[in-house]
Amino acid sequence: MFDNKVALVTGASVGIGRAVAHKLAKGGAKIVAVDINEKGLEKLKEELSAYTTEVLIFAGDVSDEARVNEIVADSVEKFGKIDILVNNAALWRCWSSFVETPTEEWKKFIDINVMGVVYFTKAVLPGMLENSYGRIINVSSVAGVYGNANMVHYSATKGAVDAMTKALAKEVTHKNILVNSVCPGSVSPSDNPDMDYSEPSVLSFMGRTGTDMENANLIAFLASDEASYISGQNIQIDGCRKKQ
Ligand SMILES: NC(=O)c1ccc[n+]([C@@H]2O[C@H](COP(=O)([O-])OP(=O)(O)OC[C@H]3O[C@@H](n4cnc5c(N)ncnc54)[C@H](O)[C@@H]3O)[C@@H](O)[C@H]2O)c1
Repeated sequence: MFDNKVALVTGASVGIGRAVAHKLAKGGAKIVAVDINEKGLEKLKEELSAYTTEVLIFAGDVSDEARVNEIVADSVEKFGKIDILVNNAALWRCWSSFVETPTEEWKKFIDINVMGVVYFTKAVLPGMLENSYGRIINVSSVAGVYGNANMVHYSATKGAVDAMTKALAKEVTHKNILVNSVCPGSVSPSDNPDMDYSEPSVLSFMGRTGTDMENANLIAFLASDEASYISGQNIQIDGCRKKQ
């Protein structure tokens, strides 16, 4: 399904990003995996060797624009192009009331969750425009749709990602660059080695969390040519969430 395609996945060491790297590699894609967790990347590369050896790993912080540009340039030099960009890396483990959330924390979340998406998209888009082909999938959250109490700054960053997704799609869809976001609800712990692991959750009418692989399945579909008429959408994957 992804033969001759090159996919760059950020935050690929654990969780949804890791499952996406597995799913796309299994489908035949060449993988560029990016994360600040270098050990996790090495482990991932070893895991992916079950399907492919065409894997590049890059340690880097998505909020460091110079490093992002370097990673994309190196990837294009080695693999020739990037067809699929999955902006998945983000900070989300934060629970504090609005008044107790320091300004510095807001800035950190905006730098990583919003500007990280901006930097990678800016670095990759010119090549996609040249090739008249691209799939950009931003991993957002139901927090950006409904807003989560005690996660106001996180919710705001994901709302920004959703808006960016819709607006950018209107600029580039006619060039066959399809831009979508997925909004997961509660997902099982991302350091769980089992990508199909799920646990009970009162937050969805299914009564359970989503698995990393369930999220990866949706992302892989949007990355594929089967999703050729879908762009500018924010798609929720939340087991029919009880809206908070
Ligand atoms: N897990 C959930 O319940 C849930 C729910 C809704 C949305 N999401 C979204 O799904 C995505 C993946 O989350 P997850 O829970 O699978 O994984 P996670 O939060 O455990 O890890 C994300 C990965 O990103 C990496 N990362 C973090 N900051 C980085 C940075 N500055 N530069 C490079 N890499 C960085 C981490 O090292 C990690 O490997 C995120 O965008 C998150 O907001 C998760």
